[in-house]
Amino acid sequence: MDKRTAPRGTFDILPTDSNRWLALERAVDELCARFGYGEIRTPIFESTDVFVRTIGEGTDIVDKEMYTFTDRGGRSMTLRPEFTAPTARAALEHNLLQNLPLKVYYRGPIFRYERPQKGRYRQSHQWGAECFGVAGPQADAEIIALGMELIRRETLADVELGINSMGCDVCRPAYREAVVAHLKDNATTLSENSRERLSRNPLRVLDSKDPSDRAVIATAPRVDSYLCDACREHFTAVRALLASMGITPTVDPKIVRGLDYYTRTVFEMSAGGLGTQNALCGGGRYDGLIAAMGGPATPAVGLAMGMERLLMAAGPRRAESLNGRPRTEVAFVALDEPSARSLVPILHAFRRAGISADMDYTLRKVDKQIRAAGQQGARVAVILGNDELARGEATVQDLTTRERQRVKLIELEHDVKERLAR
Ligand code: HAM
Repeated sequence: MDKRTAPRGTFDILPTDSNRWLALERAVDELCARFGYGEIRTPIFESTDVFVRTIGEGTDIVDKEMYTFTDRGGRSMTLRPEFTAPTARAALEHNLLQNLPLKVYYRGPIFRYERPQKGRYRQSHQWGAECFGVAGPQADAEIIALGMELIRRETLADVELGINSMGCDVCRPAYREAVVAHLKDNATTLSENSRERLSRNPLRVLDSKDPSDRAVIATAPRVDSYLCDACREHFTAVRALLASMGITPTVDPKIVRGLDYYTRTVFEMSAGGLGTQNALCGGGRYDGLIAAMGGPATPAVGLAMGMERLLMAAGPRRAESLNGRPRTEVAFVALDEPSARSLVPILHAFRRAGISADMDYTLRKVDKQIRAAGQQGARVAVILGNDELARGEATVQDLTTRERQRVKLIELEHDVKERLAR
């Protein structure tokens, strides 16, 4: 048979690693609940226009990265490349915006056809949160604080928070014009991709990573000198609120984000030591999105964080402590077939009593069974052979001290529970 591999840019999460994922997912659930966000789960695919109309044509995601297919009914569907548009779609569909504010969070896989490299995958996982219905800077500050707090708890990495304002419908047009004029003046030095974007979506050029665009981008007009009074005030207030929580962002006019729906605040969190794919988290305000989708004008702000990158930033040291409880606390070791059969109901009773217990059904050598159980983190082994069985007893071994003791089968659960509690 051919060697089978997972599709390029995807990966399997194996039992040895899944504990870390589970622990991270639990941390996300716990922290989001503490910040007042309720979980939302949307389908993995949506009608393609949910993404095209929100993320925008002329963005990398819509132009090059979507997994789009025609279903058997002839409809165009797309595997979600992010959660913000599906979340907004669901909020509209279920009239959740009638009772504002609405605070929701999510986690799960996203799909982007990108060139795979360390920290960049075609199927990756995000968690994120969205707050609908609050125009004031408190919501921006809360969303940023939520992201920073999760990173602080889960990683040892140095985290940089960069923040910028993209302006609003009032001030952005003048800024856009200035950028277009600058890019047109320098069109001959721009990359082919950026020249093409210049006509379709000029602000996206500022997000280009192409080295030949670097000089033109560096000398482009800065958004801060174009902000209207209301946007300037909002931006100042967001930073002051963050400072009051001990969070100090760096103002970075280069942050323009790769999606079209943003207004005012945009931000990114990045971690040292991750190489080129160092963006852990991105987000911002998108006050025009709901109206653009046909809903009532609703201010909104949110963030999303890459879970693979978060685990990479957490590093191996953190990985150990993330593991939590061992998979097996008590190992049942049978010496022969009749003993193994007698142990089955006892094992089941232990599991029902809330103890993680397991038995090596292969009946391999006792030493091997006990060594494997120790590697799984087991603290106690319950050993049963002919001799013990005849007396209605089992041998209980403490895997830390190696001490062994005979215990009556009817007292077994009580005895083992006491040992685990020590
Ligand atoms: P984004 O910046 O496109 O924002 O993605 C957020 C994070 O997801 C990135 O910083 C990165 O950690 C992770 N990520 C994205 N693509 C990949 C990939 N191919 N491989 C590994 N990790 C990846 C959004 O998605 C917006 N929806 C954020 C948002 C929420 N804005 C408002 N609300």
